[in-house]
Amino acid sequence: MNPKKVTVPMIRAMKGQQRIGMLTAYDYPSAKVVDAAGADIILVGDSLGMVVLGYPDTLSVTVDDMIHHTRAAVRGTTHALIVGDMPYLSYHIAIGETVRNAGRFIQAGAHAVKIEGGKEIRIRTIEALLDAEIPVMGHIGLTPQSVNALGGFKVQGKGTEESRRLIEEAQALEKAGCFSIVLECVPTELAAFITERVSIPTIGIGAGAGCDGQVLVFHDLLGLYDGHTPKFVRKYANLAEDMQKAIGTFLSDVRDGTFPNDAESFHSGTREDLERLYGSGGVVVSIK
Ligand code: KIV
Repeated sequence: MNPKKVTVPMIRAMKGQQRIGMLTAYDYPSAKVVDAAGADIILVGDSLGMVVLGYPDTLSVTVDDMIHHTRAAVRGTTHALIVGDMPYLSYHIAIGETVRNAGRFIQAGAHAVKIEGGKEIRIRTIEALLDAEIPVMGHIGLTPQSVNALGGFKVQGKGTEESRRLIEEAQALEKAGCFSIVLECVPTELAAFITERVSIPTIGIGAGAGCDGQVLVFHDLLGLYDGHTPKFVRKYANLAEDMQKAIGTFLSDVRDGTFPNDAESFHSGTREDLERLYGSGGVVVSIK
């Protein structure tokens, strides 16, 4: 693992040199594990809404939710760059409000923010964030906060018009000053084409191997989420099953009296000492 703290210029400089590994994390223990494994970027994603808070999509997540989780993830990180994901409605209303919301992420310890979309209005927003010294990661293709407008979680950029729009959006995000762009659910060929035509790193999720980096959601990679698993996810573990087994064993040890054992207990004096001081005989018979 690179012991140096990852910075925004370091991520930019990785393009064409080294593939970027990014993962989501939402709290102290998950960030600690991801950071110790050597991730370049930790995204405190608004996927929080689905994999941690149990909502059906990301739309209910608030800035307060995100800040709470960003602070915890920051405390667990010493190496990775931390990107805070701006949730729905936090950058859609007015530029001043957007800058204030993004500033809360920076004050919580994030080094940059991510916002979804590449239309003209987003470009003006990104310019205002950069004016406030806040680095921005773009995100185009399937933008989950647009799930209702898109009619579902679907692959984007399939036809000529759509692919042209995505290429133009990526170039507009680069020109506006984003330091990297997430490409989500985009055909492999188009993602590779975009990657070759922008000077900033692209980070794919469901966008094939031609991107400059890859990101997955922590709970998907580790098998901790029981909702729909998209085709692009590679499950590297099945921790939900392992956790359930461990907890089941604990419960059966409690029920059959084998937990805790002597080594897991504290001692002071003897039973006789206690009886001498407080008398013998009890009201409740202990379970044998
Ligand atoms: O919220 C999230 O986890 C994301 C990634 C899927 C890129 O935006």
